[in-house]
Amino acid sequence: MEKSKLKELVARIEKLPTLPVVVTRINAMVQNPKTSAREVGAAIATDPSLSAKVLRLVNSAYFGFPSQISSVSHATTILGFNAIHNLALSATVFQLFHDNGAEELFDRRAFWEHSLGVGVLARMLAEKVRYPDKEEAFTAGLIHDVGKIVLDQFVHEEFRTVVSLVRQNNLLLYEAEAQVLGLNHANVGYILGQKWNLPKKLQDPMAYHHAPGLSKYNPQLTGIIHLADIFCRTLKIGNGGDNRVPPLNKEAVADFKLTSADIEYLKTNSEKEIEKAEIFLDMV
Ligand SMILES: [Fe+2]
Ligand SMILES: [Fe+2]
Repeated sequence: MEKSKLKELVARIEKLPTLPVVVTRINAMVQNPKTSAREVGAAIATDPSLSAKVLRLVNSAYFGFPSQISSVSHATTILGFNAIHNLALSATVFQLFHDNGAEELFDRRAFWEHSLGVGVLARMLAEKVRYPDKEEAFTAGLIHDVGKIVLDQFVHEEFRTVVSLVRQNNLLLYEAEAQVLGLNHANVGYILGQKWNLPKKLQDPMAYHHAPGLSKYNPQLTGIIHLADIFCRTLKIGNGGDNRVPPLNKEAVADFKLTSADIEYLKTNSEKEIEKAEIFLDMV
């Protein structure tokens, strides 16, 4: 693709929907060390539909708290504001790209299942490798491929060529995207992360999950998402729009020191964990 077309494409992507005002406010709040959990709770409480979603999630089997949590402020105290921020983000990102009635070029249900699977496996991996925030790992997994939806919705005709190339030549989506568009869904993720002013630690996994060596701000989480993506494809959980398993960057995951017992644990428990997280699929 010529430079001018690529520029035009980037300009089109930059016009994408913004996050709801309240989520943008929370984004800024969590990046300010002076913010208190109460302030974050109060910000969410200003948006009734977001509050309802957060409460539904907090009271679901995903968290499995023994008793009912009936207010956002209570939820914020229990989970901490980072986790609440991640919940708010997870509950809203996919809604922005809700079914717009147009023809979809790949199976959305399978795509959400892939995203959910990567989120859940990332959360499990985070625990194994002692990443400090497992809800952040879940959110990063859930949103890692959102660039694909963007390309399908906003660059639809060109994306049609991408998808047929994937099918004809059994390519990975990101390979075909690069060939046809001159950029891939992870590059789109980079643009989105900046546009939405997400914390850098959440931007990197979206932008570099296929090239984790490039992550500057959060190589550990980027490596986790890279590995969770490959796990999900190997275990055939959902489908992200292509059928091959991308190569594993061994260097990016070497520090994880996963044992074969760890891998066995992930394999046997992922299904059960994914079931508990299915509630997130109701939100999209
Ligand atoms: Fe991807
Ligand atoms: Fe993926």
